[in-house]
Amino acid sequence: MSNCLICANTYEPFMSFGQMPIANAFLSPEQFPSEYFFELQVGFCPTCAMVQLVTQPDREMIFHENYAFFSSTSARMEAHFMEFADLVIKGYIQSADPFVIEIGSNDGIMLQHFANSGIRHLGIEPSANVAQVAIDKGIQTITRFFDEQLAREIVEEYGQADAFLGANVMCHIPYLHSVAAGVKILLKPDGVMIFEDPYLGDIIEKTSYDQIYDEHAFYFSVASVSYLFEQHDLEVVDVQPQNVHGGSMRYVIAHQGAHPVSSAMVAQHVKEDTLGLRSAETFDGLRKNIEHSRDALINLLRNLKQNGKRVVGYAATSKSTTVINYCGITPDMVEYISDTTPIKQGKFSPGMHIPVRSYETFKANYPDYALLFGWNHAEEIMAKEQPFRSAGGKWVVYVPKLQILE
Ligand code: SAH
Ligand code: TMP
Ligand code: ZN
Repeated sequence: MSNCLICANTYEPFMSFGQMPIANAFLSPEQFPSEYFFELQVGFCPTCAMVQLVTQPDREMIFHENYAFFSSTSARMEAHFMEFADLVIKGYIQSADPFVIEIGSNDGIMLQHFANSGIRHLGIEPSANVAQVAIDKGIQTITRFFDEQLAREIVEEYGQADAFLGANVMCHIPYLHSVAAGVKILLKPDGVMIFEDPYLGDIIEKTSYDQIYDEHAFYFSVASVSYLFEQHDLEVVDVQPQNVHGGSMRYVIAHQGAHPVSSAMVAQHVKEDTLGLRSAETFDGLRKNIEHSRDALINLLRNLKQNGKRVVGYAATSKSTTVINYCGITPDMVEYISDTTPIKQGKFSPGMHIPVRSYETFKANYPDYALLFGWNHAEEIMAKEQPFRSAGGKWVVYVPKLQILE
Protein backbone atom coordinates (compact mmCIF):
# COMPACT_ATOMS: atom_id res chain seq x y z
CA MET A 1 0.00 0.00 0.00
CA SER A 2 1.26 3.45 -0.91
CA ASN A 3 -0.22 6.94 -0.94
CA CYS A 4 -1.00 8.55 -4.28
CA LEU A 5 1.09 11.66 -4.99
CA ILE A 6 -1.91 13.28 -6.67
CA CYS A 7 -4.99 12.49 -4.55
CA ALA A 8 -3.31 11.14 -1.36
CA ASN A 9 -5.53 8.03 -1.28
CA THR A 10 -3.97 4.59 -0.97
CA TYR A 11 -3.22 2.60 -4.10
CA GLU A 12 -1.85 -0.81 -4.99
CA PRO A 13 1.41 -1.39 -6.85
CA PHE A 14 0.68 -3.75 -9.77
CA MET A 15 4.16 -4.67 -10.90
CA SER A 16 7.83 -4.74 -9.92
CA PHE A 17 10.61 -4.78 -12.49
CA GLY A 18 13.16 -5.66 -9.82
CA GLN A 19 16.33 -3.74 -9.10
CA MET A 20 17.05 -1.05 -11.69
CA PRO A 21 19.80 1.49 -12.23
CA ILE A 22 19.24 5.14 -13.30
CA ALA A 23 18.23 4.92 -16.98
CA ASN A 24 20.60 7.58 -18.26
CA ALA A 25 23.53 6.79 -15.95
CA PHE A 26 25.96 5.46 -18.59
CA LEU A 27 29.14 4.64 -16.75
CA SER A 28 32.84 3.70 -16.87
CA PRO A 29 34.27 0.48 -15.38
CA GLU A 30 35.69 2.26 -12.31
CA GLN A 31 32.10 3.29 -11.44
CA PHE A 32 30.70 -0.28 -11.64
CA PRO A 33 31.25 -1.10 -7.93
CA SER A 34 29.34 1.96 -6.70
CA GLU A 35 26.48 1.81 -9.21
CA TYR A 36 23.12 2.84 -7.69
CA PHE A 37 20.08 0.55 -7.90
CA PHE A 38 16.51 0.89 -6.66
CA GLU A 39 13.34 -1.20 -6.99
CA LEU A 40 11.38 -0.09 -10.04
CA GLN A 41 7.74 -0.61 -9.10
CA VAL A 42 4.55 0.91 -10.53
CA GLY A 43 1.03 1.25 -9.23
CA PHE A 44 -2.29 2.70 -10.37
CA CYS A 45 -4.62 4.79 -8.28
CA PRO A 46 -8.29 3.71 -8.43
CA THR A 47 -9.38 7.16 -7.18
CA CYS A 48 -7.66 9.59 -9.57
CA ALA A 49 -6.40 7.11 -12.23
CA MET A 50 -2.78 8.24 -11.95
CA VAL A 51 -0.18 5.56 -12.68
CA GLN A 52 3.02 6.23 -10.79
CA LEU A 53 6.34 4.91 -9.55
CA VAL A 54 6.22 3.65 -5.99
CA THR A 55 9.66 5.11 -5.18
CA GLN A 56 11.75 7.63 -7.07
CA PRO A 57 15.46 8.20 -6.71
CA ASP A 58 16.39 11.78 -5.67
CA ARG A 59 16.10 14.22 -8.55
CA GLU A 60 19.74 15.32 -8.16
CA MET A 61 20.83 11.76 -8.99
CA ILE A 62 19.00 12.00 -12.33
CA PHE A 63 19.27 15.61 -13.54
CA HIS A 64 22.69 17.17 -13.14
CA GLU A 65 25.68 18.62 -15.02
CA ASN A 66 26.35 15.30 -16.78
CA TYR A 67 22.81 14.54 -17.98
CA ALA A 68 23.14 12.26 -21.01
CA PHE A 69 19.96 13.08 -22.94
CA PHE A 70 20.31 15.83 -25.54
CA SER A 71 16.99 16.53 -27.28
CA SER A 72 18.45 17.53 -30.63
CA THR A 73 19.69 14.03 -31.53
CA SER A 74 16.63 13.20 -33.65
CA ALA A 75 15.70 14.94 -36.89
CA ARG A 76 12.08 13.87 -36.39
CA MET A 77 11.97 15.56 -32.98
CA GLU A 78 13.60 18.71 -34.41
CA ALA A 79 10.72 18.91 -36.91
CA HIS A 80 8.15 18.09 -34.23
CA PHE A 81 9.27 20.94 -31.98
CA MET A 82 9.36 23.37 -34.88
CA GLU A 83 5.68 22.52 -35.50
CA PHE A 84 4.89 22.78 -31.77
CA ALA A 85 6.47 26.27 -31.60
CA ASP A 86 4.65 27.29 -34.77
CA LEU A 87 1.30 26.17 -33.33
CA VAL A 88 1.91 28.22 -30.17
CA ILE A 89 3.00 31.32 -32.10
CA LYS A 90 0.06 31.21 -34.54
CA GLY A 91 -2.65 29.91 -32.24
CA TYR A 92 -2.02 30.84 -28.63
CA ILE A 93 0.00 34.04 -28.11
CA GLN A 94 -1.90 37.07 -29.29
CA SER A 95 -0.73 39.85 -26.96
CA ALA A 96 1.53 42.67 -28.20
CA ASP A 97 4.67 41.52 -26.38
CA PRO A 98 4.09 37.85 -25.53
CA PHE A 99 6.15 35.99 -22.94
CA VAL A 100 6.72 32.23 -23.29
CA ILE A 101 8.22 29.91 -20.68
CA GLU A 102 9.35 26.34 -21.22
CA ILE A 103 10.30 23.89 -18.48
CA GLY A 104 12.72 21.08 -19.32
CA SER A 105 13.91 23.14 -22.27
CA ASN A 106 17.04 20.99 -22.56
CA ASP A 107 19.34 22.09 -25.42
CA GLY A 108 16.77 24.57 -26.72
CA ILE A 109 15.19 22.31 -29.35
CA MET A 110 11.85 24.17 -29.07
CA LEU A 111 12.70 27.56 -27.54
CA GLN A 112 15.15 28.36 -30.36
CA HIS A 113 12.13 29.07 -32.58
CA PHE A 114 10.78 31.68 -30.15
CA ALA A 115 14.26 33.18 -29.72
CA ASN A 116 14.71 33.35 -33.50
CA SER A 117 11.33 35.09 -33.87
CA GLY A 118 12.32 37.69 -31.27
CA ILE A 119 9.68 36.51 -28.78
CA ARG A 120 10.36 37.05 -25.07
CA HIS A 121 11.14 33.62 -23.66
CA LEU A 122 12.62 31.83 -20.68
CA GLY A 123 13.87 28.26 -20.42
CA ILE A 124 13.97 26.47 -17.07
CA GLU A 125 16.42 23.60 -17.26
CA PRO A 126 18.16 22.15 -14.19
CA SER A 127 20.66 19.92 -16.05
CA ALA A 128 23.54 22.38 -16.46
CA ASN A 129 25.30 20.74 -19.41
CA VAL A 130 22.26 20.62 -21.69
CA ALA A 131 21.15 24.10 -20.49
CA GLN A 132 24.56 25.45 -21.52
CA VAL A 133 24.01 24.28 -25.11
CA ALA A 134 20.82 26.38 -25.19
CA ILE A 135 22.50 29.38 -23.58
CA ASP A 136 25.25 29.18 -26.21
CA LYS A 137 22.54 29.40 -28.89
CA GLY A 138 21.33 32.69 -27.34
CA ILE A 139 18.32 31.18 -25.55
CA GLN A 140 17.62 32.70 -22.16
CA THR A 141 17.75 29.84 -19.64
CA ILE A 142 17.69 29.48 -15.84
CA THR A 143 19.48 26.40 -14.48
CA ARG A 144 16.95 25.41 -11.80
CA PHE A 145 14.12 22.99 -11.06
CA PHE A 146 10.69 24.53 -11.61
CA ASP A 147 8.32 24.72 -8.64
CA GLU A 148 5.91 27.15 -6.98
CA GLN A 149 8.71 29.17 -5.37
CA LEU A 150 10.45 29.70 -8.71
CA ALA A 151 7.10 30.69 -10.30
CA ARG A 152 6.78 33.52 -7.75
CA GLU A 153 10.29 34.73 -8.49
CA ILE A 154 9.64 34.69 -12.25
CA VAL A 155 6.40 36.68 -11.94
CA GLU A 156 8.22 39.27 -9.87
CA GLU A 157 11.07 39.62 -12.33
CA TYR A 158 9.40 39.13 -15.72
CA GLY A 159 5.63 39.24 -15.17
CA GLN A 160 3.06 36.58 -16.08
CA ALA A 161 3.26 34.33 -19.13
CA ASP A 162 1.07 33.97 -22.20
CA ALA A 163 2.19 30.37 -22.68
CA PHE A 164 3.86 27.91 -20.34
CA LEU A 165 5.22 24.92 -22.24
CA GLY A 166 6.73 21.52 -21.47
CA ALA A 167 7.54 18.36 -23.38
CA ASN A 168 8.53 15.11 -21.74
CA VAL A 169 9.13 16.86 -18.47
CA MET A 170 5.85 17.05 -16.50
CA CYS A 171 5.81 13.29 -16.07
CA HIS A 172 9.32 13.57 -14.58
CA ILE A 173 8.26 15.73 -11.64
CA PRO A 174 7.01 13.95 -8.48
CA TYR A 175 5.94 17.24 -6.79
CA LEU A 176 3.31 18.08 -9.42
CA HIS A 177 1.09 19.97 -6.98
CA SER A 178 3.84 22.55 -6.54
CA VAL A 179 4.17 22.78 -10.34
CA ALA A 180 0.40 23.23 -10.84
CA ALA A 181 0.30 25.88 -8.08
CA GLY A 182 3.17 27.63 -9.89
CA VAL A 183 1.30 27.50 -13.19
CA LYS A 184 -1.76 29.05 -11.55
CA ILE A 185 0.39 31.99 -10.40
CA LEU A 186 2.31 32.33 -13.65
CA LEU A 187 -0.41 32.29 -16.30
CA LYS A 188 -2.02 35.52 -17.47
CA PRO A 189 -5.85 35.39 -17.12
CA ASP A 190 -6.19 34.09 -20.69
CA GLY A 191 -2.80 32.34 -20.78
CA VAL A 192 -2.36 28.64 -21.50
CA MET A 193 -0.12 25.84 -20.37
CA ILE A 194 0.59 23.32 -23.15
CA PHE A 195 2.51 20.17 -22.40
CA GLU A 196 2.94 16.67 -23.79
CA ASP A 197 4.13 13.35 -22.41
CA PRO A 198 3.95 9.66 -23.31
CA TYR A 199 0.31 8.59 -23.06
CA LEU A 200 -0.82 5.78 -20.76
CA GLY A 201 -3.34 4.54 -23.34
CA ASP A 202 -0.51 3.88 -25.81
CA ILE A 203 1.60 2.13 -23.17
CA ILE A 204 -1.29 -0.23 -22.43
CA GLU A 205 -2.22 -0.80 -26.08
CA LYS A 206 1.39 -1.36 -27.27
CA THR A 207 2.81 -2.99 -24.12
CA SER A 208 5.51 -0.32 -24.35
CA TYR A 209 6.64 -0.98 -20.80
CA ASP A 210 10.06 0.49 -21.52
CA GLN A 211 8.49 3.92 -20.95
CA ILE A 212 8.66 2.92 -17.29
CA TYR A 213 11.97 4.04 -15.75
CA ASP A 214 13.28 6.29 -12.96
CA GLU A 215 12.74 9.60 -14.79
CA HIS A 216 9.07 8.90 -15.48
CA ALA A 217 7.44 9.34 -12.10
CA PHE A 218 3.97 9.42 -13.75
CA TYR A 219 2.09 7.84 -16.71
CA PHE A 220 -0.60 10.32 -17.66
CA SER A 221 -4.13 10.00 -18.95
CA VAL A 222 -6.72 12.71 -19.56
CA ALA A 223 -8.51 11.47 -16.42
CA SER A 224 -5.50 11.82 -14.10
CA VAL A 225 -4.25 15.09 -15.59
CA SER A 226 -7.74 16.61 -15.28
CA TYR A 227 -7.93 15.49 -11.65
CA LEU A 228 -4.59 17.15 -10.84
CA PHE A 229 -5.33 20.54 -12.38
CA GLU A 230 -8.87 20.75 -11.00
CA GLN A 231 -7.29 20.84 -7.52
CA HIS A 232 -5.67 24.14 -8.54
CA ASP A 233 -8.65 25.82 -10.17
CA LEU A 234 -7.22 25.06 -13.61
CA GLU A 235 -8.79 22.89 -16.30
CA VAL A 236 -7.79 20.82 -19.31
CA VAL A 237 -9.52 22.48 -22.26
CA ASP A 238 -8.09 20.47 -25.15
CA VAL A 239 -6.13 17.31 -25.90
CA GLN A 240 -4.20 16.54 -29.08
CA PRO A 241 -2.70 13.05 -29.61
CA GLN A 242 0.90 13.13 -30.90
CA ASN A 243 2.65 10.56 -33.01
CA VAL A 244 6.05 10.84 -31.28
CA HIS A 245 7.85 8.82 -28.59
CA GLY A 246 5.59 5.86 -29.26
CA GLY A 247 2.36 7.81 -28.67
CA SER A 248 2.11 11.00 -26.63
CA MET A 249 -0.72 13.27 -25.57
CA ARG A 250 -0.62 17.06 -25.65
CA TYR A 251 -2.76 18.84 -23.02
CA VAL A 252 -3.91 22.45 -23.12
CA ILE A 253 -4.60 23.86 -19.64
CA ALA A 254 -6.21 27.19 -18.76
CA HIS A 255 -7.70 28.99 -15.78
CA GLN A 256 -11.08 27.48 -14.91
CA GLY A 257 -13.72 28.89 -17.27
CA ALA A 258 -11.29 31.03 -19.31
CA HIS A 259 -11.43 28.97 -22.51
CA PRO A 260 -14.10 26.68 -24.02
CA VAL A 261 -13.58 22.93 -23.58
CA SER A 262 -13.08 21.16 -26.92
CA SER A 263 -15.07 18.20 -28.19
CA ALA A 264 -11.77 16.25 -28.43
CA MET A 265 -11.56 16.44 -24.63
CA VAL A 266 -14.99 14.95 -24.19
CA ALA A 267 -14.28 12.21 -26.75
CA GLN A 268 -11.00 11.26 -25.05
CA HIS A 269 -12.70 10.92 -21.67
CA VAL A 270 -15.19 8.52 -23.24
CA LYS A 271 -12.37 6.55 -24.88
CA GLU A 272 -10.56 6.25 -21.55
CA ASP A 273 -13.66 4.91 -19.87
CA THR A 274 -13.44 1.91 -22.20
CA LEU A 275 -9.73 1.43 -21.33
CA GLY A 276 -10.65 0.91 -17.67
CA LEU A 277 -7.93 3.08 -16.14
CA ARG A 278 -9.30 2.65 -12.64
CA SER A 279 -9.61 -1.10 -12.77
CA ALA A 280 -7.13 -3.67 -11.40
CA GLU A 281 -8.01 -5.98 -14.29
CA THR A 282 -6.53 -3.56 -16.83
CA PHE A 283 -3.19 -3.44 -15.04
CA ASP A 284 -3.14 -7.20 -14.37
CA GLY A 285 -3.53 -7.58 -18.12
CA LEU A 286 -0.71 -5.12 -18.75
CA ARG A 287 1.60 -7.00 -16.37
CA LYS A 288 0.89 -10.29 -18.13
CA ASN A 289 1.57 -8.73 -21.53
CA ILE A 290 4.84 -7.31 -20.22
CA GLU A 291 5.91 -10.73 -18.94
CA HIS A 292 5.09 -12.30 -22.31
CA SER A 293 7.01 -9.60 -24.15
CA ARG A 294 10.07 -10.21 -21.95
CA ASP A 295 9.94 -14.00 -22.45
CA ALA A 296 9.61 -13.70 -26.22
CA LEU A 297 12.54 -11.29 -26.54
CA ILE A 298 14.94 -13.13 -24.26
CA ASN A 299 14.16 -16.47 -25.94
CA LEU A 300 14.88 -14.96 -29.34
CA LEU A 301 18.18 -13.46 -28.18
CA ARG A 302 19.26 -16.77 -26.62
CA ASN A 303 18.41 -18.50 -29.86
CA LEU A 304 20.37 -16.07 -31.99
CA LYS A 305 23.36 -16.43 -29.69
CA GLN A 306 23.20 -20.23 -29.92
CA ASN A 307 23.20 -19.91 -33.69
CA GLY A 308 26.29 -17.72 -33.59
CA LYS A 309 24.56 -14.59 -34.88
CA ARG A 310 25.96 -11.13 -34.18
CA VAL A 311 23.39 -8.87 -32.52
CA VAL A 312 23.97 -5.16 -31.89
CA GLY A 313 21.66 -2.73 -30.06
CA TYR A 314 20.58 0.35 -32.02
CA ALA A 315 20.25 3.60 -29.96
CA ALA A 316 21.10 3.67 -26.25
CA THR A 317 17.74 5.18 -25.30
CA SER A 318 16.66 5.71 -21.71
CA LYS A 319 13.95 3.14 -22.40
CA SER A 320 16.54 0.50 -23.27
CA THR A 321 17.71 0.44 -19.64
CA THR A 322 14.39 -1.02 -18.53
CA VAL A 323 14.31 -3.61 -21.33
CA ILE A 324 17.93 -4.69 -20.87
CA ASN A 325 17.77 -5.06 -17.10
CA TYR A 326 14.25 -6.46 -16.83
CA CYS A 327 14.80 -9.05 -19.58
CA GLY A 328 18.36 -9.83 -18.43
CA ILE A 329 20.09 -8.97 -21.72
CA THR A 330 23.82 -9.52 -21.23
CA PRO A 331 26.87 -8.34 -23.25
CA ASP A 332 27.26 -11.86 -24.66
CA MET A 333 23.81 -11.52 -26.30
CA VAL A 334 24.20 -7.93 -27.51
CA GLU A 335 27.77 -7.09 -28.54
CA TYR A 336 27.43 -3.31 -28.14
CA ILE A 337 24.88 -0.52 -28.55
CA SER A 338 25.35 2.00 -31.35
CA ASP A 339 24.48 5.58 -30.38
CA THR A 340 25.12 8.99 -31.92
CA THR A 341 25.43 10.87 -28.58
CA PRO A 342 29.12 11.57 -27.82
CA ILE A 343 28.62 11.60 -24.00
CA LYS A 344 27.32 7.98 -24.11
CA GLN A 345 30.03 6.61 -26.42
CA GLY A 346 32.90 4.71 -24.80
CA LYS A 347 30.75 4.18 -21.70
CA PHE A 348 28.70 1.14 -20.63
CA SER A 349 24.95 0.74 -20.35
CA PRO A 350 23.49 1.06 -16.82
CA GLY A 351 23.14 -2.25 -14.97
CA MET A 352 24.17 -4.82 -17.56
CA HIS A 353 27.24 -2.94 -18.79
CA ILE A 354 26.88 -3.42 -22.53
CA PRO A 355 29.45 -1.18 -24.29
CA VAL A 356 28.11 1.89 -26.12
CA ARG A 357 29.94 2.61 -29.37
CA SER A 358 29.73 5.25 -32.04
CA TYR A 359 27.43 5.00 -35.03
CA GLU A 360 30.55 4.77 -37.24
CA THR A 361 31.34 1.41 -35.57
CA PHE A 362 27.94 0.11 -36.69
CA LYS A 363 28.33 1.38 -40.24
CA ALA A 364 31.85 -0.03 -40.60
CA ASN A 365 30.87 -3.62 -39.82
CA TYR A 366 27.15 -4.46 -39.94
CA PRO A 367 25.93 -7.16 -37.52
CA ASP A 368 23.45 -9.89 -38.53
CA TYR A 369 20.70 -8.33 -36.38
CA ALA A 370 20.10 -4.85 -34.99
CA LEU A 371 17.93 -4.75 -31.88
CA LEU A 372 15.94 -1.53 -32.19
CA PHE A 373 16.04 0.07 -28.72
CA GLY A 374 15.05 3.34 -30.42
CA TRP A 375 11.76 1.90 -31.72
CA ASN A 376 10.08 5.27 -31.12
CA HIS A 377 12.31 6.68 -33.87
CA ALA A 378 11.72 3.67 -36.17
CA GLU A 379 10.58 5.62 -39.21
CA GLU A 380 13.58 7.93 -39.18
CA ILE A 381 16.03 5.12 -38.46
CA MET A 382 14.67 2.59 -40.99
CA ALA A 383 14.79 5.21 -43.72
CA LYS A 384 18.41 5.99 -42.88
CA GLU A 385 19.44 2.34 -42.62
CA GLN A 386 18.37 0.98 -46.00
CA PRO A 387 22.00 -0.02 -46.74
CA PHE A 388 22.05 -2.24 -43.60
CA ARG A 389 19.01 -4.12 -44.88
CA SER A 390 20.35 -4.33 -48.42
CA ALA A 391 23.49 -5.91 -46.97
CA GLY A 392 21.30 -8.66 -45.42
CA GLY A 393 20.88 -7.05 -41.99
CA LYS A 394 17.70 -7.78 -40.04
CA TRP A 395 15.86 -5.70 -37.44
CA VAL A 396 14.54 -7.03 -34.17
CA VAL A 397 11.62 -4.89 -32.96
CA TYR A 398 9.70 -5.67 -29.73
CA VAL A 399 6.97 -2.98 -29.66
CA PRO A 400 4.05 -3.49 -30.06
CA LYS A 401 5.07 -7.16 -30.43
CA LEU A 402 8.20 -9.11 -31.22
CA GLN A 403 9.02 -9.05 -34.92
CA ILE A 404 11.99 -9.71 -37.15
CA LEU A 405 12.08 -7.39 -40.16
CA GLU A 406 14.17 -8.78 -42.99
N1 SAH B 1 11.76 18.92 -23.53
C1 SAH B 1 12.87 18.14 -24.03
C2 SAH B 1 13.67 17.46 -22.92
C3 SAH B 1 12.98 16.33 -22.21
S1 SAH B 1 14.04 15.53 -21.03
C4 SAH B 1 12.38 17.10 -25.02
O1 SAH B 1 11.19 16.80 -25.07
O2 SAH B 1 13.21 16.54 -25.73
C5 SAH B 1 13.44 16.22 -19.53
C6 SAH B 1 14.15 17.50 -19.16
O3 SAH B 1 13.48 18.09 -18.05
C7 SAH B 1 15.60 17.29 -18.74
O4 SAH B 1 16.45 18.10 -19.52
C8 SAH B 1 15.60 17.66 -17.25
O5 SAH B 1 16.82 18.24 -16.82
C9 SAH B 1 14.43 18.61 -17.14
N2 SAH B 1 13.76 18.68 -15.81
C10 SAH B 1 13.62 17.70 -14.90
N3 SAH B 1 12.95 18.15 -13.82
C11 SAH B 1 12.63 19.44 -14.05
C12 SAH B 1 11.95 20.45 -13.31
N4 SAH B 1 11.45 20.24 -12.09
N5 SAH B 1 11.82 21.68 -13.86
C13 SAH B 1 12.31 21.94 -15.11
N6 SAH B 1 12.97 21.03 -15.85
C14 SAH B 1 13.13 19.80 -15.33
P1 TMP C 1 15.11 8.81 -26.89
O1 TMP C 1 14.39 7.64 -27.43
O2 TMP C 1 15.06 8.84 -25.39
O3 TMP C 1 14.67 10.07 -27.59
O4 TMP C 1 16.66 8.65 -27.17
C1 TMP C 1 17.19 8.66 -28.42
C2 TMP C 1 18.60 8.07 -28.38
O5 TMP C 1 18.81 7.40 -29.62
C3 TMP C 1 19.71 9.09 -28.27
O6 TMP C 1 20.71 8.58 -27.40
C4 TMP C 1 20.28 9.20 -29.68
C5 TMP C 1 19.99 7.84 -30.26
N1 TMP C 1 19.78 7.82 -31.70
C6 TMP C 1 20.72 7.20 -32.53
O7 TMP C 1 21.73 6.68 -32.04
N2 TMP C 1 20.48 7.17 -33.87
C7 TMP C 1 19.38 7.74 -34.43
O8 TMP C 1 19.22 7.70 -35.66
C8 TMP C 1 18.40 8.35 -33.58
C9 TMP C 1 17.16 8.95 -34.15
C10 TMP C 1 18.64 8.36 -32.21
ZN1 ZN D 1 -4.73 9.12 -6.76
